[in-house]
Amino acid sequence: MKKETIIILDFGGQYSQLIARRIRESNVYCEVLPYNTSSEKIRLYAPKGIILTGGPANTYAENSPKCSKEIFEMGYPILGICYGIQLIAYMMGGSVKTGGLKNKEYGKTFVKLDKSSVLFRNSEELNSCWMSHSDYIESVPAGFIVTGTSDNCPVAAMENRDKRMYGVQFHPEVLHTDNGVSMLRAFLFDVCNVTGDWTMSSYVDETVSNLKEKIKDKKVLLALSGGVDSSVCAAMVGKAVGKNLTCIFVDHGLLRKYEREQIEEVFNNNFDINFITVDARERFLSKLEGVTDPETKRKIIGREFIEVFYDEAKKLGAMDFFVQGTIYPDVIESGGGQTAVIKSHHNVGGLPKDLKFGELIEPLRNLFKDEVRKCGFELGLPADIVMRQPFPGPGLAIRIIGAVTEEKLEIVRDSDFIFRDEIKKAGLDKEINQYFTVLTDMRSVGVMGDERTYDYTLALRAVTTTDFMTADWARIPYETLEKTSGRIVNEVKHINRIVYDITSKPPATIEWE
Ligand code: XMP
Repeated sequence: MKKETIIILDFGGQYSQLIARRIRESNVYCEVLPYNTSSEKIRLYAPKGIILTGGPANTYAENSPKCSKEIFEMGYPILGICYGIQLIAYMMGGSVKTGGLKNKEYGKTFVKLDKSSVLFRNSEELNSCWMSHSDYIESVPAGFIVTGTSDNCPVAAMENRDKRMYGVQFHPEVLHTDNGVSMLRAFLFDVCNVTGDWTMSSYVDETVSNLKEKIKDKKVLLALSGGVDSSVCAAMVGKAVGKNLTCIFVDHGLLRKYEREQIEEVFNNNFDINFITVDARERFLSKLEGVTDPETKRKIIGREFIEVFYDEAKKLGAMDFFVQGTIYPDVIESGGGQTAVIKSHHNVGGLPKDLKFGELIEPLRNLFKDEVRKCGFELGLPADIVMRQPFPGPGLAIRIIGAVTEEKLEIVRDSDFIFRDEIKKAGLDKEINQYFTVLTDMRSVGVMGDERTYDYTLALRAVTTTDFMTADWARIPYETLEKTSGRIVNEVKHINRIVYDITSKPPATIEWE
């Protein structure tokens, strides 16, 4: 039986991904497609319903994004949100006007809802909704009735029950809209009649069986970094094809304490795959000798990583498939959808997109990050890997200001280990999104026992963030800072001063280099 799917046509709204998240949270599978996806392609999905997202354009403008008109005639239930409702109105013969300041609504707005509408059955009659528009629908198309109004908006919701077409001017996907989730669920369960049987375990079973069928007894290669995405990929493909999967894990000597051992243990003990660790510690350290410029360090590491991986892969002979841990936000942002996201992507310590060792396999291509984590648990990976905080490809090298030496690596490794331990003991590891230590190249005078010391200053960095593009410094309780500081100066050699980084991003970045 075909998987129940909802199609989201993306008109460039800032909440398009959020709509997808909300739907999947209701155990319904959905995909975000560009607004101009052809009706033939949509038919192939046999969707249970279609959602038209918001977007920054004006429907009546000459080059405004429009979906194929046929979509309105195919009999699928449709829900238009923000720009989406205006597009339905405009394309089906209603009229959309620009209201200028008079009709502009932004933020929480009370909307008077018609409770006889299936969408609003569980809402308030005067429901607080999140608005963001200046155009408005002046008249609805024939066959539609108005089911919501606000002070500035004559048509805040409309519907044509016979045609199963609905529209809301506000954003039900945003939590500021009271009962928004219930409105979306009503569309899914009462209008589209989905059953909501999409679960991570069924997704894993389906993907594993598709991988088996695709790969058969051919050979697959995977670069395992130990990060969440590549680990879940390895577990997934490993479960499907066992020893036909070879994972190469490069130890560049810039890893955290016990990281290599942990990855080796998990994959050797729990999975029946070929696992190769390349010990390239010497190679990286000698290339980095005396290098102090951050960008040069990154470039050296990036280049060396590719070379090491390539050398190792060559030894294995020809491979049929090559696995990459692309996840859904990357797919949507890189042109699958229309959202204008400006993102400077760090890919140092990864492999360039065009370096292929065989046909590309991307088992996580349809999953959001938290779904990747669920998938990891489903596949039996431990929480230490699945819930791991992000770790940059160039590793500890960019947490040592100035030249990298074995001695300095040991200082960051040991201090980072203590800091992580204290954060975990304080129960803060789920609240703080990234936390680590940075070894500055500054030394200062201290006193230990009766001795004068002249040693390094270590910085603690801890941030809270949702997307890592902006971040705030974490308000760690003094007590935890005190314990961390006490332990580090006592247990780690050559540190006699500890400072806490209290800058947000921007203007600072999360990493120091
Ligand atoms: P910044 O320092 O730019 O970091 O605020 C944002 C996030 O990206 C991570 N980061 C990297 N990840 N390769 C990676 O895979 C890199 O070269 C790299 N540089 C920074 C950083 O840890 C933070 O989570």
